[in-house]
Amino acid sequence: MTYKALHVEEIDGKFTKKMKQLSLEKLDTNDVLIRVKYSALNFKDALSATGNKGITREFPHTPGIDASGVVERSSSERFQIGDEVIVTSFDLGMNTNGAFSEYISVPKEWVIPLPKTLTLKEAVSIGTAGLTSAIGTFKLMSNGQKEGDNILVTGSTGAVGSFSVKLLSHLGFKVTALSSKADKKEFLTSIGANEVVLKDEFETHAKRPLLKPKYDGALDVVGGEILENILKQVSPEGSVAICGLVGSPQLNTTVFPFILRGVNLLGINSAEMDSEHRVTLWNMLANEWKIDLSNIVHEHSLEELPKLIDEMLAGNSTGRAVIKID
Ligand SMILES: NC(=O)c1ccc[n+]([C@@H]2O[C@H](COP(=O)([O-])OP(=O)(O)OC[C@H]3O[C@@H](n4cnc5c(N)ncnc54)[C@H](OP(=O)(O)O)[C@@H]3O)[C@@H](O)[C@H]2O)c1
Repeated sequence: MTYKALHVEEIDGKFTKKMKQLSLEKLDTNDVLIRVKYSALNFKDALSATGNKGITREFPHTPGIDASGVVERSSSERFQIGDEVIVTSFDLGMNTNGAFSEYISVPKEWVIPLPKTLTLKEAVSIGTAGLTSAIGTFKLMSNGQKEGDNILVTGSTGAVGSFSVKLLSHLGFKVTALSSKADKKEFLTSIGANEVVLKDEFETHAKRPLLKPKYDGALDVVGGEILENILKQVSPEGSVAICGLVGSPQLNTTVFPFILRGVNLLGINSAEMDSEHRVTLWNMLANEWKIDLSNIVHEHSLEELPKLIDEMLAGNSTGRAVIKID
């Protein structure tokens, strides 16, 4: 039997990404075989789909770190045929074939039962982007950020960014959205931003190690110079949660924000977080942190993925691309 998947191949050092029929027998070697109903596009998938060996060491490969679907075969008593489940992160889509596919085969520890208050589409609309945003928000709140605080969100039209704008706004924070897209100001306001700052206005080449504090905290997906400038402008005892590197993985800073203002830098690693905390956050996202994602989610087919991936890598994507797998 065969199944359809996005197949990324390396030929003479060049990478191609195409839909292909593959052998299900070769895939079905793990505890749980899942018929994928929905996936979603994350920045990590775009890197994997274009041959980034920091994400995926060996090709051919199928990317896709987020899946929701139905159990088709299980060697674990925890899961029965027909159960609706979610799989996000761990090694899915990195060095294990991922969810841009009609099927995935994964270890039982990676599988989470679908919370009763979510549909399969809602679960994947949250996915890694939502979980990452929830980890960042949880860390900011655990470190003292509270309702009414002004939190800066970077890459705010992207998947993690737009989810964060919505979630922080839902929780009563004042949100400043930083974006490179001047034509998306209205969109950002419509999803909960109180203020929108454009990237060009934010970039300061001031050499001073500290600037006037403007933000109580921040959630950053960009890194590089933007993060350097955020750290200079966070209020005393404020926190900055960081997850990304779309701008740059480099960070040039001084110790002054930390030793003169007591600023906290909080890392986010959604792929490796422990299962108990993961389930707790999923339950929060399914209940008290549940938000209406209809104005940030757009649905696509598997066949549209190559174009969506190129747009994402060019920094042109907005919101969360959910992939419906028929
Ligand atoms: N650590 C973790 O656990 C974890 C989990 C998920 C994602 N991430 C990371 O988080 C980052 C964002 O992921 P995503 O899925 O949200 O990606 P995305 O949907 O592509 O969003 C990224 C956004 O960043 C902005 N941007 C893009 N290129 C930029 C550049 N060169 N300089 C400044 N801003 C730029 C754009 O928003 P604007 O135009 O609005 O500025 C873009 O929409 C990635 O680095 C990803 O690897 C990490």
